[in-house]
Amino acid sequence: MSEVVYLNGEFLAPEEAKVSVFDRGFLFADSTYEVIPFYQGVGFRLRQHMERLRQGLEAIQIELEADLESLCSELVARNGGGNQAVYLQVTRGADTRRRHAINPILKPTLFMASYPIEVGLSQSLAKVPGISAITTDDIRWRRCDIKTTALLANIIAVQTALEAGAQEALFVRDGFLTEGATSNLYLVRQDEILTPALDSHILGGTTRNLLLELTREKGISCTEQDLPVTLLAQADEVWISSSTRGVIPVVRVNGKPVADGSPGPMWHKVAKLYQAFEKQIFKGQRQ
Ligand code: PDD
Repeated sequence: MSEVVYLNGEFLAPEEAKVSVFDRGFLFADSTYEVIPFYQGVGFRLRQHMERLRQGLEAIQIELEADLESLCSELVARNGGGNQAVYLQVTRGADTRRRHAINPILKPTLFMASYPIEVGLSQSLAKVPGISAITTDDIRWRRCDIKTTALLANIIAVQTALEAGAQEALFVRDGFLTEGATSNLYLVRQDEILTPALDSHILGGTTRNLLLELTREKGISCTEQDLPVTLLAQADEVWISSSTRGVIPVVRVNGKPVADGSPGPMWHKVAKLYQAFEKQIFKGQRQ
């Protein structure tokens, strides 16, 4: 748990940080968020996270003035530095009563907390067991490109997965795979990586962008395209990615093994590229 959180201009103990019951984030999930890893006190793809946040705020017309990069770094430092994830949430602000219409004079609420995380893929890749996933109907709204805190459909999907003994749910909309409940999704078929193209049904993941960059640099084929759910049964490999977990192999889907049920060679190759990138970040050689 955070020792120090940030709320509207102040660094406070969590129990001292209080938000109004009329805050629109609380009442309506009228709010957006980011989860940003910091390794050895340095933000990982910090600019990309900030750019996505900026786009999300613009899409829902919230104007925020704050030096977020510095605030994140200061929070991590105040919480002891090292490897942490920063949770950052911006709501439209606290009104004087509940009403759907937006009161234009509201000042956004800015909340941040941080908590320790494992360094991405620092462990031996040979020891990564892979996870199980289920598929589930994508009942979310049609602006999943906005990182909103309205996550009820994601929560139900994750809970359904956990109750089935799996760790992630893969969403299927109209017969096509979109993404994981907390991650982006990839299939590998005949040495080609396939991932759903960016549109309003998926979140433009920062880790997804990085994986596209890293694979294309190395000439590995990575295609963004629609993925019919039927492709799952023919996939040689399935992976998911997110900021806090990096890229991890999915070895069972709906109780059935993916190929031979162990992490595949393409995942191994890409995970190594990801680890090498992390090392360059630590040395300040890349952004
Ligand atoms: N979730 N898609 C969804 C629905 C997500 O919730 C996430 C990440 C991603 C991956 O985005 P990124 O690579 O930028 O982390 C894709 C975060 C980690 C969360 O909600 O905790």
